[in-house]
Amino acid sequence: MAIDRRDKGLFSGAIFQQGAPMGWQEYLDTHQNRFVAELQDLVRIPSVSAKPEHMPDVVAAGEWVVARLRAAGAENVALYPTQGHPVVYGDWLHAGEDKPTVLLYGHFDVQPAEPLDLWQTPPFAAELRDGRIYGRGASDDKGGMMAPILAAEALLQTTGRLPVNVKFFFEGQEEIGSPTLAPFVKDNAALLRADMIISADGGQWSETEANLLMGLKGLVGCEITVTGANADLHSGMHGGGVANPLHGLSQIIAALKGADGRINVPGFYDDVVELTVEDRQAIARVPFDQEAYIAQLGVPDVFGEEGYSVRENLWARPTLELNGIWGGYQGGGIKTVLPSEARAKITCRLVANQTPDQIYALLAAHIHSLCPKGLRVAVERLPGSANPFLVPRGHNGTAAVAEVLSALYGKAPYEVRTGGSIPVMSLLLQELGVHGAVMAFGLNDENIHAPNEFYRLSSYRKSQTAYCMLLERLGQG
Ligand code: BES
Ligand code: MN
Ligand code: MN
Repeated sequence: MAIDRRDKGLFSGAIFQQGAPMGWQEYLDTHQNRFVAELQDLVRIPSVSAKPEHMPDVVAAGEWVVARLRAAGAENVALYPTQGHPVVYGDWLHAGEDKPTVLLYGHFDVQPAEPLDLWQTPPFAAELRDGRIYGRGASDDKGGMMAPILAAEALLQTTGRLPVNVKFFFEGQEEIGSPTLAPFVKDNAALLRADMIISADGGQWSETEANLLMGLKGLVGCEITVTGANADLHSGMHGGGVANPLHGLSQIIAALKGADGRINVPGFYDDVVELTVEDRQAIARVPFDQEAYIAQLGVPDVFGEEGYSVRENLWARPTLELNGIWGGYQGGGIKTVLPSEARAKITCRLVANQTPDQIYALLAAHIHSLCPKGLRVAVERLPGSANPFLVPRGHNGTAAVAEVLSALYGKAPYEVRTGGSIPVMSLLLQELGVHGAVMAFGLNDENIHAPNEFYRLSSYRKSQTAYCMLLERLGQG
């Protein structure tokens, strides 16, 4: 592949001038073709955590990561079982006690590839096209999680050591909300203990401008089942005599959110920390072109909670979304039936200080209270959840990431948030008391979770440089 020579120019920059070896850059350039082939290998493993039939593939991806980490020079590398999908741990702890210990995170599980017919090349073929690698998980997060591994290899191979103590922690269940990660983290707190966490899962602003991710939302979800008669009924024989579960479900759902975008679940906003003037100013400082956003999505207009900007709603206000609704007859022609049941899935994105337990309790109670006459309603919590996570301003890790991004892009990063979630960030904070920052290089046009996901080889190369720089920066104290 073409070598990105621009990276090398960085080392004329003031911050990294003294003592920055050129060796690892050359190592990364020299071995880039192999690194790309390795990412293709990893993308070819269909490690879809949501699907039981892919459980062996998630294990295979974990084993692949174990082998790759060992080859990079990490020690104590192992695949650890959990009550669900496994995790990978490895470390290199010889930098000295005066150096910080940095935990580097990523995930090797991927979203389901469906709908398959919309992919131009098969999702697990990992085809190279136009300087990009196409495949499910190429961007989210297999391309991302390779960066810390390759950076460590390059530093170890060229300098014989790492500038800081490093722990690698990769999981195989992020895309399903890390349902069995909490007990693993609790039981292995000593193993995972670190001074800071850097996530290689997340994203970047553009090819030429950087962002610093300051906030992630939390998540909780439920499935609603509304039942009526014990079997589907003839709508002429029973319509007008008993309630229809699909109507009942529709009434419940319609009651959950107003035309003003407010969520009408009593208590839903009680724990929400209102945005401060500074928060709103920080969000407003980030460029946003509403017309371009509308055009890009192909929607007739934006819609969200009144009183907040689109960006505030996207990044910093809680949401409730219906993800699926089904029941009744959906074939051709007419079928005069009252279906016996109707179902829906709902997820809420949470902000500080909402918690999944609290919001689920409020939501379930409210849905039960809305049960229409003549019907039964059941609510079940969906597995997987996340607490909201705010990156603290002025934290060492955040500052180091900001410095590296500034040097790498020649400009200070935008301070952004996302409506996305990474459950492990709040989990590690809660269980270890350790704060995290994010440094990742996926771009938002890379179709993550959608057909034709891809990762730019230029981002891949840049991410390797960035992680070498970050470890060096952290080693300077
Ligand atoms: N990498 C994403 C989260 C993300 C997206 C961070 C965009 C920053 C920018 C992650 O893999 C993801 O998709 N998380 C899920 C978690 C959920 C299942 C708990 C999400 O946000 O839907
Ligand atoms: Mn991800
Ligand atoms: Mn994802």
